[in-house]
Amino acid sequence: MAKLLYIEASPRKERSHSIAVANAFLDAYAAAHPGDTIDRLDLWAETLPAFDGAMLDAKYAILHGEQPGTAEQAAWGEVERVVARFTSADKYLISIPMWNFGLPYVMKHYIDIVTQPGLTFSFSPDSGYAGLVDGPVAVVYASGGAYHEGSGAEAFDLQKPALEGWLAFVGLTEVTRIIVAPTLAGAEDVERARASASDAARAQAARF
Ligand SMILES: Cc1cc2nc3c(=O)[nH]c(=O)nc-3n(C[C@H](O)[C@H](O)[C@H](O)COP(=O)(O)O)c2cc1C
Repeated sequence: MAKLLYIEASPRKERSHSIAVANAFLDAYAAAHPGDTIDRLDLWAETLPAFDGAMLDAKYAILHGEQPGTAEQAAWGEVERVVARFTSADKYLISIPMWNFGLPYVMKHYIDIVTQPGLTFSFSPDSGYAGLVDGPVAVVYASGGAYHEGSGAEAFDLQKPALEGWLAFVGLTEVTRIIVAPTLAGAEDVERARASASDAARAQAARF
């Protein structure tokens, strides 16, 4: 029995295109994998800790190969709790809107909490950095505009390189893109984009 972690990054809920397509994925996934567990992580409902103070000091202590003090260890426990939920999954689904060409800040906050030495990546002077997480990832990307190859707007799209650069850093290199775009366009174009993304999501979920 596998565990799928679904990370949701839009606050728009029933109005959200990325969530609607992710829900199509999840319905198809549940039908195809009835024994699996789905853990829904709504980043807008989570209270993630500020990454500062003792928590930040703990990270630097670990990076320098030092023993964190008592306050740092206590703060690090919170990081470990958030990371444990992330790394306990076998597979990942992420739905993510484009905000100002990149990621919504809740996703960046989550990345800053879970990207930690000894937990999700390692470093050694001989072999450099290595990701410690594995499993396939499906990502539903939503954007108001369209940034596909040939659109002329490719260079503005910092959403996919930011997310996939991070995923690769922690070891998640098997990524499938499901794109719902443009979502700020005429009703027919939006409907077409959403229907085709939902079809792609269902097909992907059945073999995920
Ligand atoms: C704060 C904010 C910034 C946005 N910035 C961009 C942008 O840079 N490029 C773009 O194409 N769309 C942008 N949009 C539009 C969203 O990407 C679009 O509405 C998308 O459908 C949001 O995903 P959702 O429907 O899942 O919430 C932005 C929307 C918001 C709220």
